[in-house]
Amino acid sequence: METLFKKKVLIIGATGGIGRELAKLIKSSQADLLLSGRNAAKLEEIAIELGINQEHIFTADITNPDQVQSMAEWSGNPDIIINVAGIGIIKPLEQLTYDDFNQSIDINLKGTFHILKSYLPGMKAVKQGLIINLPGVIGKVPMAGAAAYAASKYGLNGMLKSVREELKRTNIRITNLYLGGTDTAFWDQIDLNVQRDKFVLAKEAAKSIWFLCQQPVSGVVSEMVLQPFNHQAI
Ligand SMILES: NC(=O)c1ccc[n+]([C@@H]2O[C@H](COP(=O)([O-])OP(=O)(O)OC[C@H]3O[C@@H](n4cnc5c(N)ncnc54)[C@H](OP(=O)(O)O)[C@@H]3O)[C@@H](O)[C@H]2O)c1
Repeated sequence: METLFKKKVLIIGATGGIGRELAKLIKSSQADLLLSGRNAAKLEEIAIELGINQEHIFTADITNPDQVQSMAEWSGNPDIIINVAGIGIIKPLEQLTYDDFNQSIDINLKGTFHILKSYLPGMKAVKQGLIINLPGVIGKVPMAGAAAYAASKYGLNGMLKSVREELKRTNIRITNLYLGGTDTAFWDQIDLNVQRDKFVLAKEAAKSIWFLCQQPVSGVVSEMVLQPFNHQAI
């Protein structure tokens, strides 16, 4: 396993259920940890809880390319970027609004595009880096009610795999985690009859990302799948 000691690690979406648990684990590995989220109050609360300096947190909405670029100027070039920002709007097509669809694409797909545009030049200059994303199981298999979410996550999957093709002559690694149902606030607004008590725990999803961060640098873990026992869709 590669050590995270003093590695510069940026978590985008650190204020979410998975991001928060991940921040605790990466902090425990004595990395140079940087946290970003859209909600400034939540971000400050996490920083205080983990004993992270205010200079190590940055509020940014990833739908705004200028804010993402400012974040890149603030952070400099991280060794590892973990993008755990995203939303899930799950509704049948007849209930899905244009705004629901646009938000899903703007955050899950275009938000990641902005991150790649702002951070890849720095990684390319040093020809190394690791970017971990969460296209999720719905980035690979369909689900009723997931027209907007699947569109954003299938798009994300295709975009990341295409960018990977452009990076083969560098040591920049792109790792996709295909995660199934995980018990976080992500599900609070979703009107579906799901068994959250059978979901993957947020702290265990975070452990899988922590594991991915520590993989040897001579190869690439292109993807990993983690799903609840009762819903193994892949
Ligand atoms: N939970 C699951 O079952 C599951 C399964 C597969 C994949 N995933 C993926 O895992 C990721 C994290 O999910 P989670 O369960 O931790 O969800 P969560 O608890 O709802 O957290 C979502 C995170 O995304 C951030 N975010 C949302 N919109 C943003 C924006 N415009 N700009 C910047 N940050 C934004 C939120 O920031 P603020 O709170 O600061 O606004 C929050 O930190 C998502 O990409 C999701 O699609 C989740």
